[in-house]
Amino acid sequence: MGTHGEGEPRGDGLTVLVGETEIAARVAELAAAVERDHPPGEPLVIVAVMKGALVFLADLVRRLAMPLRIELVNARSYRGARREATVHILDEVAALPLSGRHVLLLDCVLDSGSTLTALRREIAACGPASLRTCVLLRKAVPREPDVQPEYVGMDIPDVFVVGYGLDHANRWRHLPYVAALGQDAIPEEQER
Ligand code: IMP
Ligand code: MG
Repeated sequence: MGTHGEGEPRGDGLTVLVGETEIAARVAELAAAVERDHPPGEPLVIVAVMKGALVFLADLVRRLAMPLRIELVNARSYRGARREATVHILDEVAALPLSGRHVLLLDCVLDSGSTLTALRREIAACGPASLRTCVLLRKAVPREPDVQPEYVGMDIPDVFVVGYGLDHANRWRHLPYVAALGQDAIPEEQER
């Protein structure tokens, strides 16, 4: 695959936005912050949004030392040219063992916030002991002020990104870095 520095075009419509080293450093800092805020000895349940959060999840959990359980929720958001998204949560959140638990909701990217807002509502209805949200990337887009994750890895511009779990039409998830996908490569109507 070769190495690509930040901001360097790859010649296939991708430009590296956040490199592997920077991601690793921020993931370590996020893990430290999550541990710092967590009640000692209590178990943590991470609810990770599939499929985008899968690489982030794998890296983050290996840096956490508290008793930990992992739950996966498949969510899909469809959108056209307008920013509003229709969110489909494909798994039954109410069936997850979250009542009385400390829950950390994990996603790779915060865009409009529709996905995390919908999931937070469903998780809150389960009666968790606490609920925090963590995203690796936060896009610079307007969104409701109450959609504010407790933990944010880094702020990025409003561009479509792939890699480190994120896809375009199910491609590019395996890239070890986050790359911007050129505007020309994105059709108007798409599944994200
Ligand atoms: P939101 O609901 O608008 O915040 O969008 C969040 C979801 O949309 C994420 O869970 C991703 O699956 C997807 N998404 C948003 N922006 C991007 C992107 O730039 N690349 C790939 N997927 C994205
Ligand atoms: Mg997607």
